Amino acid sequence: MGSTEKNLINAYSGKRAQQYDQVRSNKPRWKQEQAIMTSFLDAVPPTKVVDCPFGTGRWFEAYEAHGMFVIAVDLSQDMLNEAKQKVTAFKPGRYDFRRGSIFDLSTMLDKHCADTFVCIRFLNWINREEVSKVLSEARKIDFRYLILGISVYPQEEGAVRQISRKLALVKRNRRNRKLGTPIEYVHEEKGFEKELQSFGYRVCERKETFRLASRVNKIFLCQKVE
Ligand SMILES: C[S@@+](CC[C@H](N)C(=O)[O-])C[C@H]1O[C@@H](n2cnc3c(N)ncnc32)[C@H](O)[C@@H]1O
Repeated sequence: MGSTEKNLINAYSGKRAQQYDQVRSNKPRWKQEQAIMTSFLDAVPPTKVVDCPFGTGRWFEAYEAHGMFVIAVDLSQDMLNEAKQKVTAFKPGRYDFRRGSIFDLSTMLDKHCADTFVCIRFLNWINREEVSKVLSEARKIDFRYLILGISVYPQEEGAVRQISRKLALVKRNRRNRKLGTPIEYVHEEKGFEKELQSFGYRVCERKETFRLASRVNKIFLCQKVE
């Protein structure tokens, strides 16, 4: 396991896993993400999803509404345990929980095991090369649709705005280092879209979830180019 994975596991284990929903679920960002996910799932709609990292299972209601099957992958057993506690209120038979890394998806799962890949609140914790690795894993499984959350420097913003965002990120990460919390990454939106294209996906829709001085968070709905 690499140091990024170790830091992230630590950030999502024990009490931090138990309190994950409680700390976040009243925030406008969380609600905005719920609304966007619902609209993207309506637009697709998938029959089988790989959701990685699954976390505490915040999309159970949305998945249930569409009656789809879900392969729920996460590296943290504690996060999966939180999700498993909730699933009893839904249709447990529709969920296949697996502990594993997003970087090993293609070795864990069969090609064509699902039509849609969901990855929310993760790509902001990894660098550009690691994002490429995730897209490469997704491509090997040959998902038709990707629903991806990511922090970006928006393509419509000019150079000066981007520099001020980069400075704000340096400040944030200085604070993260002091607190011993994982480093955040913000990606060039244009570069990310080009990367998606190089893996054979086109962006159908992109919606903003929230913004800080350092970044704009968006969720992208992408479709495989046939
Ligand atoms: C911010 S949470 C996001 C969870 C969920 N997608 C959500 O939107 O609430 C980040 C998750 O990534 C998981 N994680 C960290 N490294 C991972 C890896 N290499 N593979 C799979 N999951 C990982 C953590 O355990 C944690 O559940």
